[in-house]
Amino acid sequence: MYVPLSPESSLELSVASIEEKTTAIIDELIDSLPDAKQLSGEERRGIIARYTSVLEGNFIYWMTAAVIAAKTEQSQAMLLENLVDEVRDAHPLMLRKFAMAAHAFPTDHDFLAVHEDLTRVRQFMGRLSTVKVVLTMGFFEGFIQKFMPYLAYLARQQGSTEMEYTDVHGVCDIEHTEELFKVLAAEMAVAPPEADADLFEGVSLLRTLIEHVIRPT
Ligand SMILES: [Fe+2]
Repeated sequence: MYVPLSPESSLELSVASIEEKTTAIIDELIDSLPDAKQLSGEERRGIIARYTSVLEGNFIYWMTAAVIAAKTEQSQAMLLENLVDEVRDAHPLMLRKFAMAAHAFPTDHDFLAVHEDLTRVRQFMGRLSTVKVVLTMGFFEGFIQKFMPYLAYLARQQGSTEMEYTDVHGVCDIEHTEELFKVLAAEMAVAPPEADADLFEGVSLLRTLIEHVIRPT
């Protein structure tokens, strides 16, 4: 028997399918990582340095964009909790310590290698398009969490034992990713995106940026 979906359950369905597609994009990105054992010291240093150049100064800024863009109090509260962790535990400092201990503190060359892709993500975030920004941050958290074992391996190969950043983010981002998809559902319920909107616009821009963190052009 055909059971028509209520508007709520069709929304749940579409959030679930968006989450599924996002997970597939993350897994594809993780599968495409170069074999860490084959990398030279300079290649390892470069990946850690470019990752740091992007994350240290931008993660909190972009999560703040999501708070500003969110329209429901429930979403804002969840996103703020995430920001509280970042600020209270000084995650940018954790990352800086991680990069320094791996002899991979970013140089001007590392910053410039991802400058154009980073600019595109910043401009996208500045448009504060609620659903797209929240989805982009869900993708970002999910990617970060799955990337941590690889990043930690590169740092160990660089002779580092400073792993607080990768230890913390391999665990706390699982919860943060789940919360971001709850935020996505809440925001889509109050402001459903246009049928022809490219919800993955920010995800695509951020994916390209991450690809160039891994393999600079
Ligand atoms: Fe963090």
